[in-house]
Parts: sequence; structure tokens; C-alpha cells
Amino acid sequence: MDGKINEVRSANDIVDVISSYIPLEKKGKNFFGVCPFHDDSNPSMSVSKDKQIYKCFSCGASGNVFNFVMDYEHVDFKEALSILAKKAGITLNNVNLKSKENKYDKYYKMYEITLKLYQNNLNSNLGSSAKEYLHKRGITDELIKKFKIGLATTSKDNLTKILNSKDYTNKEIELYGLGTGTNDLYINRIMFPLFDVSNNIVGFSGRIYNTNSSSKYINTKETPIFKKGELLYNYYNAKDSVRLLKKIILVEGFMDVIRLSSIGITNAVALMGTSLTKEQINLLKRLSLNICLCLDGDNAGRKAMSVNGALLEEAGFNVTVVELTDNLDPDEYILKNGKENYITLLNNAISYSDYKINYLKEGKNLLSVEEQTTYINNVIDEISKEKDVIKQELLLNKLSKEFNLDIEILKNKLQNKEKCSKIETLNKQPIKKQKLDRYQKATYLILYTMLNSYNAVIKYEKELNFLPTRPARYLANEIIYYYKKNQNLVLADFISTLQDKEEMDTMLKEVLNYVELDEVNLDAIDEYISVIKGYNSNQAMKRLMEQLRNEPDPVKKALIAEQIKRVKIGS
Ligand code: CTP
Ligand code: MN
Repeated sequence: MDGKINEVRSANDIVDVISSYIPLEKKGKNFFGVCPFHDDSNPSMSVSKDKQIYKCFSCGASGNVFNFVMDYEHVDFKEALSILAKKAGITLNNVNLKSKENKYDKYYKMYEITLKLYQNNLNSNLGSSAKEYLHKRGITDELIKKFKIGLATTSKDNLTKILNSKDYTNKEIELYGLGTGTNDLYINRIMFPLFDVSNNIVGFSGRIYNTNSSSKYINTKETPIFKKGELLYNYYNAKDSVRLLKKIILVEGFMDVIRLSSIGITNAVALMGTSLTKEQINLLKRLSLNICLCLDGDNAGRKAMSVNGALLEEAGFNVTVVELTDNLDPDEYILKNGKENYITLLNNAISYSDYKINYLKEGKNLLSVEEQTTYINNVIDEISKEKDVIKQELLLNKLSKEFNLDIEILKNKLQNKEKCSKIETLNKQPIKKQKLDRYQKATYLILYTMLNSYNAVIKYEKELNFLPTRPARYLANEIIYYYKKNQNLVLADFISTLQDKEEMDTMLKEVLNYVELDEVNLDAIDEYISVIKGYNSNQAMKRLMEQLRNEPDPVKKALIAEQIKRVKIGS
């Protein structure tokens, strides 16, 4: 089995794989890119072609090609293996790995049962009026199937009874957002299932259709598996097409996503009425750094584009905007004006800075000198965020003409702003790395040297056979064991063997995070070993001193003092 895993790993060059997810640039021997696993816009991730591993200087993410795919795609080892095997055309029929058990599996299952029921309801004769409503809105049977739309009927406890019969208690049904404690929560609503980033069904949004109610939609409450701010509607399904087109379309509602899909636009995800969270921004970053905002054409939508656009720009995205008028959302616009017109709008999306400059005018009386001044200052603020100096110049020119102002004044103002913001970012910058003591450093270096040289392993076994912390000792033993079993050790393959050994896996990440992969001196092992020996005698000394202090008997005290002397000479 290990052989097969290693075969898949070597068939997938890490630089090729990672650059299919994020842009990488070659600098010297290594490749660099923006780390997709933390908030950043600097190229802090380095990928080593020689070693076939990656590491991020900033957040400490590291590993081989499997780790990258696991973290990026939110999949377990087994699935990462199968993704990469497929990519390389390797068949895995005899490889038998069990998927990691998830403590929420029972509740994903509960949601799957519920989804099946709702889908059946919509297709039965109980669903005819809901179907009619959907068809009237142009949601075809094909779309109903694709987005797994269903129906909660007028029954008060149909779902609860079914779930009870499958051993789910009313308490569980309530806790996970499907019941009230005695009855079903969703009654007579069209049900849109919500999936998390790994495509597990975790919630529903239920819409009224033939009644009036104060709440058009009822969404699943926050549950152990449903965190609204950590998912985006259609994220999983949009992945492939976003990566192909290198662009995300962000809309407000899931009806918009469904409508866009009906005209062949499949790279859209929806916010579902919330404001954009940090988690969502990180999720988006994994797909593409190009994003087009197409929120509703009402005041709330425009405001949201202004706010979210700024957040996304700050996170390093290339943001464009499609503005709809007459309070229309994309769904309504497409129904009213057709596919071609919407695609034209998309193709003519404007940059976020242009949008923002227009937006800043809204509600201002530009005849008043006060408001003019505020507006111009705000615009300069916006221009200072623009990275392209040519565009900056063009915008300044425009502003100077529009308000009949000397361009030098505007330029001065801009320069001052840029100075201030530089100082601000400098102040924000330092992510202080945790201070390590010399023993920790020596531990990391010993482990890394052992990973790279069998000689070091022999020395370790003969002269030390000890490291100060348990995870470090375990990892050292694991390395020794690996060499004995396989004769040699390829770091990128060794990493795969730590899948289910969390403590050692974490330790190895710490090691990789600390060392300079290409610059460790393999001959310095003696030095590192003597540091740890120093640690041992230090520890022994501490113990003896403690004993000495607590020992009332003078004869015994003298014996301890003798021992201390010996440790001192030894070190
Ligand atoms: N929303 C919600 N609760 C509401 C209204 C809206 O959770 N009472 C969320 C839904 O997820 C919805 C999104 O906010 O998809 C956008 O709201 P809205 O524009 O009102 O919904 P539409 O997508 O236009 O839905 P419809 O066309 O069915 O009215
Ligand atoms: Mn709508």
C-alpha cells in the first residue's frame, strides 16, 4: 500500500499540482506563492521542487502534495490520494484505506434522509402546487434536480416520525435544526438544501410559496454542523468552473445562483443575505483571486458591494463590479432582459475603484463646498489603494478636471496619504514568531538532520537516544523505524506515513517550519547532540539541587553534593 501511495506522490510533481491551484513564481531554486491557508496577500508560501514539499513562513502550513490537496480541498487522505491518482492515471483498486470517522456523520446522515424525503415530496402529488410555483418562476425540473430542491409538506410531524423511526431523538432533531422538540420545524415550504465546503448537506433554507408569511425564508439555525458564515451557497459545485474560468461571480441570493446556472453560468456563489465573513473570504481565495460582485440593484445591494469590495481588495482580490438598476437582482434581471443582455453586463464589469468613486457621489450635494471637499478626499483615499500608477494618474486627472483643481495639489495629497498608509501597514505587519530556546532549536535540527541523513540516525541512536519532549522522541523513533524498514528515507514519502499520527505530524510541521529546508548543515549533528546532552545534565542538576535543598540528613546531603560535582564535570 505504501508503495502505491509513494507512486502516486512521485507521479504528481508538487510544483505542478500547487500551481494548478494558486499562481507560483520561481525565485532561485524554489517557487513562491500567496498561501491559501491564512489571510495574506504576500507570497509567503514556498514550494521546493527538490524536496517535493511546501511550507508557509507565515502560518506554518507545510507538507507534501497530499497535505496540500487535503487542506485545500477539505478532503481526507483517502480522497486526496484518489484525486491525485486520477490526475496521474493510476488505478487504486487494491488500496484499502478507511475514511476517517467523523463524529457528525450521524447528523449528515440525518440531513441526507431528510433531503430524500423532501425531494420525494416535491415529486409526489402533494408537490404539485409547489412545482407549479417553481415552474412559473422558470425553475425547470432539470434545475430542481440539479439543486436538489424539495418540499416540506403541510404535515406537522412527518419528518419527525421518520427520523424517530431511525433512532434520532426529538432532542437531536431540534438541536440540529429540523424540529421544534415535538414537531417538524419546516411546514409547507419549498426546501433548498445547503451544503458545506466538502459537499455535506448541513442545512436548509425553506421558502414560502402559496401563503403569506412574515418570513419569506427560514434558514437552519447555527448548529454544530451549520455555520452560516463559513459557507457559501454553491461553493462546492462552482469550484471546477471557477478554476477553469479563473473568476468567481458573487451574488446575494441562491435564486440568483440557480438562475445563472440556467443560462450556463456555473461559477457563481451566493452570500445568502449575510455580510461577507473572514472565513468566507478565505474560502473564496482558494478558488480564484478574481471576483466579480453582482449583488442586488437596490440601495442595500450597492452598499454591500461597496463594503464587500473593500474587504476583498484588502485581502488581495482583483475586484470588479456589475451594477444592476431598478432594484433588480440577477434573477429578475435575467428573466426580464434575457441571457444575452446579462452576459453583456458581465463582460463590461467595471473595476471596484471606478465603482467606489461613483458610489461615493451617491446622496452628496456636490454644489456645496463642504461636501465637495469630503468627496474629493474620499476619492483620493480610494485612489491611494489603487496599485496601478497609470490608473492613479488617470483618476487624478479626471478629478482635477471635474472640480477644476490644480493636479499638483491632488498629487501632494495622494503622496501624504500613501506615506501614512505605509506607516500603518508597517505597524500592523510583524507577526512575531514564538521565541524558541536552544533546546527546542537543537531538537528541530536533530530531527531534520535525521530525516536527511542515515549517518545522523546512527549517531543519534548511539550517543543520545533521547529528546526533551515526548512528540520529538516519538518522531525520532518513527524515523529510525522507517529507515530500518525501507533502507532510505524520502522526506515527502515519510510525511504520508504520519497521516493518522497527529502528535508526530504536528511535530514534523514544527520542524519544517523552523528549519531552512536547503540550508541545514548535515555535519553539525554533533553540535546539536551536545546541546541536548547539556539539557540532560541541566535537568539532572536541577533535580539534584532540589533534593539537596530538601534533604535534612547531612550525610545524605554530602552524597548528593558529590553527585552534583560529577554532573558538573561531565558537562
Ligand atoms: N434571506 C433570508 N431570509 C429572508 C430574506 C432573505 O435568509 N427573510 C437570504 C436568502 O438566503 C436569500 C438572500 O438572503 O437567498 C437574498 O434575499 P432576497 O434578495 O430577498 O431573496 P431572493 O434571492 O430575491 O429570493 P426570491 O427571489 O425567492 O424572493
Ligand atoms: Mn429575487
